[in-house]
Amino acid sequence: MLQQLLCLSVGAVLISCNAFRQEKLPRAYRNGLVVTAHPEASNVGLQILKAGGNAVDAAVAVQFALAVVYPNAGNIGGGGFMVYRDVDGEFAALDFREAAPAAANRDMYLDESGNPIVDLSLRGQLASGVPGVVDGMVRAHERFGKLDWAALVKPAVDLAQKGFPLTAMQARELNSRKESFTKYNPLGTAFVREVEWTEGDTLVQPELAHTLSLIAERKRAGFYEGEVADRIVEEMNRGNGIISYDDLKRYEAKWREPVASTYRGYRVVSMPPPSSGGIALISMLKSVEAFPLSRWGFQQDSTMRVMIEAERRVYADRATHLGDPDFYDVPQDMLIDSAYNADRMRNMSFSHASFSSDIHAGSLPQPEHEETTHFSIVDQEGNAVSLTTTINGSYGSHVVVAGAGFLLNNEMDDFSVKPGAPNMYGLIGGTANAIEPGKRMLSSMTPTILEKDGELFLVVGTPGGSTIMTSVFQTILNVVDFGMNMQEAVSAPRFHHQWLPDEVAAEKEAIDPAVRRSLSGSGYKLVDRSAIGRVDAILVLPDGSLQGGADPRGDDKAMGY
Ligand code: GLY
Repeated sequence: MLQQLLCLSVGAVLISCNAFRQEKLPRAYRNGLVVTAHPEASNVGLQILKAGGNAVDAAVAVQFALAVVYPNAGNIGGGGFMVYRDVDGEFAALDFREAAPAAANRDMYLDESGNPIVDLSLRGQLASGVPGVVDGMVRAHERFGKLDWAALVKPAVDLAQKGFPLTAMQARELNSRKESFTKYNPLGTAFVREVEWTEGDTLVQPELAHTLSLIAERKRAGFYEGEVADRIVEEMNRGNGIISYDDLKRYEAKWREPVASTYRGYRVVSMPPPSSGGIALISMLKSVEAFPLSRWGFQQDSTMRVMIEAERRVYADRATHLGDPDFYDVPQDMLIDSAYNADRMRNMSFSHASFSSDIHAGSLPQPEHEETTHFSIVDQEGNAVSLTTTINGSYGSHVVVAGAGFLLNNEMDDFSVKPGAPNMYGLIGGTANAIEPGKRMLSSMTPTILEKDGELFLVVGTPGGSTIMTSVFQTILNVVDFGMNMQEAVSAPRFHHQWLPDEVAAEKEAIDPAVRRSLSGSGYKLVDRSAIGRVDAILVLPDGSLQGGADPRGDDKAMGY
């Protein structure tokens, strides 16, 4: 409310300030809610809930459905992370991130002079890590699922077999990648046809339907062994890929201890390494906690300065201190410590920008186009799933496994290919995230759940590569500090600073012109950029009903009952 008044008081920017504000509250649902990147996938999840499935059953069905209807990021050829909270407040965190093949090595993407070879970690068979999604879904279902496994995969089989209508955005995306799909798939793929795709065209994927039916029948063996494993290894041999039968057989999703802390009395529970998401999110929240953001207001001058400087410092730490905890000793306690983060903010000034060249990762007290997709689900009992999944870039490596119909990830680019060399998101890394056989590449995925007074409060996450953590951070502040409803918090314009490059990337018209002038005058470099993230989130209202926020930046949809 306060923010609305502030926006009204600067007349000329009324529209940009309030465009995301809503006249009406979003609809609230009493029994269950599913928010995903595609209406068909949201519907699959909703039908599973209505059939008596719980949040994990719905998540498994949605993950497979997204592999069909949202192939640019939904997948079985990639990996992801799930944070789960049951109705009694027990948490679990599942890491089904891809792993480097056994034949991988630190310098595999460098030329003879030691420089990264353009696109080698991004396109083609060599760009892929060992996929983790199928094992992840099997383990999630074994531990928490209620309904029969095959019944959860079946909706995806049907969608692949019968087809589904492309949205306008999807038709555009497929057309724009025709050349690359043709180059990397000489045997043909369902994504390429003679004439251009248009909205409403039916995309049928018979090979993917067959693969999914094997998974429905044989669970993990339907993917990591037998026919599908043969197709993957053949695909590797057609290019320069190195994923072997043994890599597939040995892949294991892992249960991890979630990373947790508090922010203004809310408990924040998120994904630990090998995602940097949870630690970075909590570090940013800790960095801004001492400042009166709510009094200053949404994206007002002081608010922006504090948030930007927090983001800058946390991303500097990310570059040095984060990697797969099975290979690198991540100083997690230090990074999420309140005093550590408050201390990091002490040298910020309200009159001029810090320089990223002056900001380095905190030292240890002692040795110790981005794509991806997120969905949030709460079921009738109150169990909640926050799940982010990815094949990294849009349509991953662009390699569709011939005869098996699914896209392979290009997740190897999330490793630090060379210390100090930026990856596709401009992120820098070092030894902590260097390539090693079997290691999992550092992620930014931030599936997160908040509790208020011991009860479920918020389920949130987003795609967006390096911008994931700042988008989740800002969505939480929008609810907790700026009093927005769930849809407003998701729709609100976003900005992003990741230490290097030393710039604030902001959605067009995100920042009030007067604040822009003030920030520029203080040395902040502001650059316009396209949509940041696609947050799909659920807020539990005081009466226990569920309010969804589906990101208008995509085709995202909230469906409940
Ligand atoms: N591939 C994007 C991420 O994991 O952060």
